[in-house]
Amino acid sequence: MKGIILAGGHGTRLYPLTLAVSKQLLPVNDKPMIYYPLSALMLAGIREILIISTPTDLPQIARLLRDGSHLGLDITYAQQDEPKGLADAFIIGADHIGGDTVALALGDNIFHGNSFYDLLQESVADVDGCVLFGYPVSDPERYGVGETDENGVLVSIEEKPANPRSNRAIVGLYLYDNNVIDIAKNLRPSARGELEITDVNLTYLEQGKARLRDLGRGFAWMDAGTPDSILQASQYVQVLENRQGVRIACVEEIALRMGFIDAEACDRLGALLSTSSYGRYVRAVAAEFR
Ligand code: G1P
Repeated sequence: MKGIILAGGHGTRLYPLTLAVSKQLLPVNDKPMIYYPLSALMLAGIREILIISTPTDLPQIARLLRDGSHLGLDITYAQQDEPKGLADAFIIGADHIGGDTVALALGDNIFHGNSFYDLLQESVADVDGCVLFGYPVSDPERYGVGETDENGVLVSIEEKPANPRSNRAIVGLYLYDNNVIDIAKNLRPSARGELEITDVNLTYLEQGKARLRDLGRGFAWMDAGTPDSILQASQYVQVLENRQGVRIACVEEIALRMGFIDAEACDRLGALLSTSSYGRYVRAVAAEFR
């Protein structure tokens, strides 16, 4: 499976924060926002990752993540000149996807949960059509919303409905079979002129090939698109990290635990950052792993 992180857009809801800095590089507690979706793809076992962003933001993101080889990844970059919608990622990324399946992660989505690794591993092993993830929220009208029948079968998907049929938001992590490229290429832009991910998902739903898996109550999902949500996500991460002494979305640790790099390589990465507590944590993880 290939991975794509969509880190485009101008982050206008965050102005002036994003006038000079990419939204996806803003801090969520102790690390850049993009580490969180990157972690999700890594936990799914995905190593070939395309990052799509604007011409001005791409160089900044590439300065942070380079070619990914230090994390045992193969990271490449592609420009999206204008925000044309989430589904444009499959047209820009068609060559990257090739004949493979693909996971799309949105660059401002934050996932955390105990069973996330198992759920991802299970889900990527069985993608026939598309796999979506649903999460109960108090404000479903802000998101794509999925409705299931009494047997748990997905029956409707709506984008930001005024009267949501359920409280299950569809989160910004999507798994697709290879047909997604053709589906995206044949989409018509929505009223706001964008290629909507919800229209891709509706095509799969009509074919009886869309599944919704529940992330459940014990899980944390947040999108960090406004000053309030960034602060809330930061506080959530800070509370857990301080209480447990572990780090969420520490990409060096995940690379090590996934077997993408060895303990020596992990220690070297930590040493480069050792003036920060994040760097010292990476070194401690490497030492404990040896
Ligand atoms: C997008 C999708 C929406 C999804 C959300 C998740 O909305 O269109 O279906 O629920 O991401 O973050 P946006 O955040 O671009 O408004």
